[in-house]
Amino acid sequence: MYSDEEAAALYDVLNPWEPSDDFYLGLVMDATSVLDVGCGTGAMLHRAWKDGHPGRLCGLDPDRASLSVARRRTDIQWVAGTAASMSFDSEFDLAIMTGHAFQVLVGDDELRASLTAIRRALRDGGRFAFETRNPLARAWESWNLRNAMDVVDPSGRRVRVSYEVEAVVGEVVTFTETTSDPDGASLRVDRASLRFVNVDTLARVLTDAGFGIEAQYGGWFLEPFDSASPEIITVARGLRHTDGVLPG
Ligand SMILES: C[S@@+](CC[C@H](N)C(=O)[O-])C[C@H]1O[C@@H](n2cnc3c(N)ncnc32)[C@H](O)[C@@H]1O
Repeated sequence: MYSDEEAAALYDVLNPWEPSDDFYLGLVMDATSVLDVGCGTGAMLHRAWKDGHPGRLCGLDPDRASLSVARRRTDIQWVAGTAASMSFDSEFDLAIMTGHAFQVLVGDDELRASLTAIRRALRDGGRFAFETRNPLARAWESWNLRNAMDVVDPSGRRVRVSYEVEAVVGEVVTFTETTSDPDGASLRVDRASLRFVNVDTLARVLTDAGFGIEAQYGGWFLEPFDSASPEIITVARGLRHTDGVLPG
């Protein structure tokens, strides 16, 4: 057995600070009020606070165990919930979804409702920055047992973490994450689905939700996006009704 709390603590071991985090941290430090949607264990906002961010920092996530790790910092606002369930209204200059959190928005309805709620949470002109893996790069093809990782969790226990793809249906990849003892005895299996939205659909759903794309990159050193890029990194701006592109 490996508990939800142990799995949440292991998440930060499996996901150390990377160039992607530097990209977002720069945006966060330049914004006065920041909403981290799908904040997980809160590493981004913890770091912003440590670096002296003077404004409002708010993290939102539906996962109780991840939020309890995030809540180690009590001077940051933490909210339990999904993106679609948020009721913030014109409160933030910047919203972010880091660590491919955007890809958990699998169904069309959930994706649209989440984007609408994120747009509503932002002031006019506020930015929404996030990344989603480019489906043309087919990242899921390397999610297999050959790429299992042996790590030591925060309690000092050695574990092996491996991924196996169960199904690829349209844009949705369903896979398992297995945590096991080093000898291979399974401790827990988590099943998840991620959506690999293509760049044209992404532009359409952003427009429908009231966003204009300000910049799009293919990699964390601001490489221009092209069909071979691993990532679709987007900085979108919330448009005003008077800009004439919002529905209704
Ligand atoms: C891959 S993790 C990324 C966590 C964190 N942003 C990071 O960079 O490490 C995806 C997160 O999205 C959260 N999540 C799942 N469904 C969500 C939803 N509908 N709205 C917002 N967050 C969601 C999960 O609980 C998880 O913490």
